[in-house]
Amino acid sequence: MSYKDTLLTPVKIGEKTCKNRFFMQAMECNDEDANGNPSQMTIDRYVNLANGEAGMFSLEAISITKESVSRNSQLTIMEPNRVALKNLVTEVKKASPDAIFIFQLTHAGELSNPDFSRRVTVKPLYGYGGDLLSEEEVDKIMDAFVLAAEIAHDAGADGIDMKLCHGYFGSQILRPYNDRKWKYGGSWENRSRFAFDLYERIQKRVNDKNFLIGSKISIWEGFPGGFGTCAPDSPVIDLTEPIALCKGLEERGAQFFIQSAGSPSITISLTQIDKTIPYYSYLHQYFANEIKKNLRPETVLIGSSFTPYRNGKNKLCAVSPEDSSLFGFGAQCVERKVCDMIALGRQSFADPHLPRKLREGKENEIKWCTICDNCLELLIQQSKIGCCTYNKFYTDELVRTRKEKGALQTNHT
Ligand SMILES: Cc1cc2nc3c(=O)[nH]c(=O)nc-3n(C[C@H](O)[C@H](O)[C@H](O)COP(=O)(O)O)c2cc1C
Ligand code: SF4
Repeated sequence: MSYKDTLLTPVKIGEKTCKNRFFMQAMECNDEDANGNPSQMTIDRYVNLANGEAGMFSLEAISITKESVSRNSQLTIMEPNRVALKNLVTEVKKASPDAIFIFQLTHAGELSNPDFSRRVTVKPLYGYGGDLLSEEEVDKIMDAFVLAAEIAHDAGADGIDMKLCHGYFGSQILRPYNDRKWKYGGSWENRSRFAFDLYERIQKRVNDKNFLIGSKISIWEGFPGGFGTCAPDSPVIDLTEPIALCKGLEERGAQFFIQSAGSPSITISLTQIDKTIPYYSYLHQYFANEIKKNLRPETVLIGSSFTPYRNGKNKLCAVSPEDSSLFGFGAQCVERKVCDMIALGRQSFADPHLPRKLREGKENEIKWCTICDNCLELLIQQSKIGCCTYNKFYTDELVRTRKEKGALQTNHT
């Protein structure tokens, strides 16, 4: 089978059919209006993504509260946002009725920006801190997640990604580092209670077998006590808990998982692979493979970190450009059941129309992400975010940001 055939083959996710193997990742753009509603810019962006023909795509991280957020113009999903979110889904569905459009629900926890919101924590992490959360406060956070899931369903979204990745609240509570003696810490049973109970409560509240539920998970956070390590003070990889998490969520109705790794504010090069070390992406495919082997055959595993492979023009050695390209290697991963779908993050910014171009045989028109990570710089600087290489608006935004706030040294230069 050619890579084109493989990547354009439909796949079942729960009761739905995804028309191809492309998943466009949640990508925060920080351009919402003052009420946390999608602005016209937000709507246009997702309509454009829908026109690009990815089988499935996610709304960027949408916060279940205004109190603790990481971006100053972040989307929120609370009672007052109901109508605006319905409007967003209507516009997206008009553009692509058969696409699967999910919402990524989040709470920033210790990554909340104290400049404009309340930083909270399950156990203060060195260099981060935050107000220590009580059990009652966590119960309230769970209530807000359940309400958010109901609003997403009511808005017409096809499902939700209960975010358990990248160091946000859902991953903070799961970590071995959370060894505080409380209802949500210490033993695995306690640390997994938040995710497991939430899935059960959401299923009960939404009660619709057509509504997908799944999670993006950092399988290994890459620092001592992070998720996927063997002890509260060790960085050593141990996949026992990530596998137990996925199996436990699967038992509670999860139909898909999006594999990820790292906690960007701590281990950024694990999440967004640097162009100088593209082979770190292989770690992602290793994690995907380990999780996939432990899932039911019908549970869809979406593998991450395919952007660095590009059109084969990467710094990988001992492999041909064709075999190491995003399409070539992505298709191999699908064919060998390392994962069922491939997720694109930065590449979805660079060219939201990649799937359509592949279908139409216009591969030579694809704009490949250069992995300059200027979009990441915009994110860190709290500016409006998009691709600075191929979209003039964001090139100008980068120039303006550097003038006003100074150039930022990421480790991705
Ligand atoms: C600007 C920017 C915004 C992002 N926003 C989100 C987000 O809202 N939710 C999330 O789970 N990951 C987010 N990510 C991470 C990506 O979804 C993805 O996991 C990561 O970039 C690795 O994939 P890639 O190599 O295909 O870019 C963001 C990344 C970037 C660069
Ligand atoms: S700004 Fe750079 S890293 Fe970001 S999407 Fe564009 S080309 Fe890729």
